[in-house]
Amino acid sequence: MPTPEATIDSAQIGRIISSHTDLEGPLLPILHALQDAFGFVPSQAHAPIAEALNITRAELHGVISFYHDFQTAPQGRHVLKICRAEACQSVGGKALAEKTLAKLGLDWHGTTPNGAVTIEPVYCLGLCACAPAVMIGDKVIGRVDDTRMDSIISEAGA
Ligand code: FES
Repeated sequence: MPTPEATIDSAQIGRIISSHTDLEGPLLPILHALQDAFGFVPSQAHAPIAEALNITRAELHGVISFYHDFQTAPQGRHVLKICRAEACQSVGGKALAEKTLAKLGLDWHGTTPNGAVTIEPVYCLGLCACAPAVMIGDKVIGRVDDTRMDSIISEAGA
């Protein structure tokens, strides 16, 4: 369960950073530890990380945005990933994604107001033969149509 942004403990951020600074290449372990602790990499950690590792905030942003697994905001209880790669796009994945986003009133990376579902793009789930594919939690689902998507998001509580 992600920590709400307003309740982020800066002392905990400091402890996480200082417990990794002796490592060789400490940045990724620090980012992973922050994400494990809070469910995402809080913006409050950026300045202390940059200072501790003697890097610029731009360098830090570059690393966080390069690795798609790092989240920069609290996520919903369920993360619904919709495949945007070619095989899925060519058999209705694009329309499925657009309808889902419109139905939930979200943009990519958005979370429903009740905190139930966050929508993320993904680029191939290895289920191209059963496109269009989505993933909810750790479950991959193929041949998703509007009806199936409705039940996925309703089961997730959106
Ligand atoms: S392209 Fe969507 S699962 Fe491979």
